[in-house]
Amino acid sequence: MNILLVGSGGREHAIACRIAESERCSALYVAPGNAGTAQVNKCCNVDVDPLDFEALRAVVHKHDIDMLVVGPEAPLVAGVTDFFAANSDLRNVMVVGPGKAGAQLEGSKDFAKQFMQRHGIPTAAYRSFAANEAAEGEAFLGTLQAPYVLKADGLAAGKGVLILDNLDEARHELREMLEGKFGQASAKVVVEQYLDGVELSVFVLTDGKHYKILPTAKDYKRIGEGDTGLNTGGMGSVSPVHFADKRFMQKVEERIVAPTVRGLSRDGIPYKGFIFVGLMAVADRATGELDPYVIEYNVRMGDPETECVFPRIKSDVVDLFERVWRGNLQQTELTVDPRAAACVMMVSGGYPGHYAKGKPIQGVEQVTDCQVFHAGTRLADDGTLVTSGGRVLCVTSLADSMPMAMLKSYQELAKISWEDCYFRRDIGQDLLKMLV
Ligand code: AMP
Ligand code: GLY
Repeated sequence: MNILLVGSGGREHAIACRIAESERCSALYVAPGNAGTAQVNKCCNVDVDPLDFEALRAVVHKHDIDMLVVGPEAPLVAGVTDFFAANSDLRNVMVVGPGKAGAQLEGSKDFAKQFMQRHGIPTAAYRSFAANEAAEGEAFLGTLQAPYVLKADGLAAGKGVLILDNLDEARHELREMLEGKFGQASAKVVVEQYLDGVELSVFVLTDGKHYKILPTAKDYKRIGEGDTGLNTGGMGSVSPVHFADKRFMQKVEERIVAPTVRGLSRDGIPYKGFIFVGLMAVADRATGELDPYVIEYNVRMGDPETECVFPRIKSDVVDLFERVWRGNLQQTELTVDPRAAACVMMVSGGYPGHYAKGKPIQGVEQVTDCQVFHAGTRLADDGTLVTSGGRVLCVTSLADSMPMAMLKSYQELAKISWEDCYFRRDIGQDLLKMLV
């Protein structure tokens, strides 16, 4: 098969590595990819914008593409899957990723909340308010207890969620959001109950009827150690998450995964692709047992969770993707590497604020015992590897225990450097503390 993968981050580099390992893959093209995907066996970058569907169509024709795998959410929300389905020359391409209707699970928080309510899926209590309902929204906030959670309905580049301790501030922010603080994305705002617990990510691959639950992961979103400072795209991740034990995962499957896949089908929404369920594990007041609540859905894999999750998937991913397309995912078993994975993201100094680009990167070739996934990298004209984004590289290790995996990642990462490089030294530490 000739396969086209869309995206340019560490997530896509990790997916590309697993696709290329499959005997089913003859050639892999990544649009637009990065310096890491360019080095993957069988792989070649194509300079195409993921939102330019006509350009993707030209790649399909030129390279005789059989399968399209979509990494990021933007092309899905913009309807790339529907575009392929609607055109007879593209209809036979196996697309992994939902259409516009399914992508609303991520594209609209209000849609996602209504979906969960309709299908009895546990999530925080909420109400949503439109621009002309600011007064009702402020009154509703008055009935809640701090902290207050405000969410822009639409995609807001990961910045659309505000958590505030003070009621007056929450009312003020609600008004600002409804008046366009996040543009069209906050024309509607979801106000919801605060959930106190520990977050984790559960990933599901579905053909619309059957599903496989992929390994669990936890990501570290804040820039500073101890989960402080500004939100980022993700500073590292670990997999598996130890407290997501058999009993907890049974609840996740029964209360969340099965009703989500069934709900999509009942609502007449075809869905072939990934569902990323952001969960809060909340301790029951009486028993102390952990119960899962959905914080959000995404319609793609997480980044940097993929960089821990994909190296642990032992099944042939191209076979899984083909089954997603054909609707026979139930006929195969998912095999997972029992080892733990830890990934640490190395970022440009200043990120997530202003940062410099074009810094030469040293030492990547000296890393032997880990996988290095590229995010924001580029080959300069003279062939040197240079930084080209905020998140630059991530280092993933697999080991028999989580502490060993972390140690290995940090040891190997010390071989890589560039001017003003930064990384968090505490990835996974919170989970280790929960254990003692
Ligand atoms: P989201 O974009 O929906 O993932 O929200 C961003 C972050 O805000 C989440 O990763 C959580 O850390 C936090 N968050 C969102 N909703 C809630 C909630 N209801 N209670 C507590 N924290 C929340
Ligand atoms: N790591 C979180 C995300 O991909 O949205």
